[in-house]
Amino acid sequence: MAPRIILIGPMGSGKTTVGKHIAMDFGITFRDTDEMIVSQSGREISEIFIEDGEEAFRKLEKIILRTALLEDETILALGGGACVSIDAQSALRASGAFIVYLKISLSQVSSRVGFNQGRPLLMGNPRQQWQTLMNERAPIYEGVANYVVEVDNRSVADIVTEIGIAYELRGKGIENG
Ligand code: S3P
Repeated sequence: MAPRIILIGPMGSGKTTVGKHIAMDFGITFRDTDEMIVSQSGREISEIFIEDGEEAFRKLEKIILRTALLEDETILALGGGACVSIDAQSALRASGAFIVYLKISLSQVSSRVGFNQGRPLLMGNPRQQWQTLMNERAPIYEGVANYVVEVDNRSVADIVTEIGIAYELRGKGIENG
């Protein structure tokens, strides 16, 4: 078994907020790889990056992803880089979960990730860093996802409804995205 729905996408796309709402609607558990890393390591993401470096963070993230993919009846949100490695992409595809990419533009995201200390990869020039990561990762998000939802200028309720409908249709064997 695997999570029911997995949310992927860049920093600031709303994976955690949307995921919590979907989980509430379904009456099941919400999981988030970043939160799992924080609770397991007892440290904030930024502390791990600063003290141990990105490579150490990615190792932890890989272990957490493996654990999270084994849990069923959950809605799982992934950190923006958690689906990037080839191994992660294969594991996600093999999981059988409904994988949804939350697609957002730089103009919409910039107010959300602007000066957030909790996002070490955006330190320095957040907008430019975000766009650079997106240029590399957008093809991966598109390639791994079963469904893409555009989140620009949309309410959380609207996004949650669209994902719920897409999930139900997929259960009936109808591809719609
Ligand atoms: C990262 C995204 C972050 C967090 C870490 C690295 C990334 O998660 O995992 O700062 O590589 O894009 P969110 O996407 O939940 O902000």
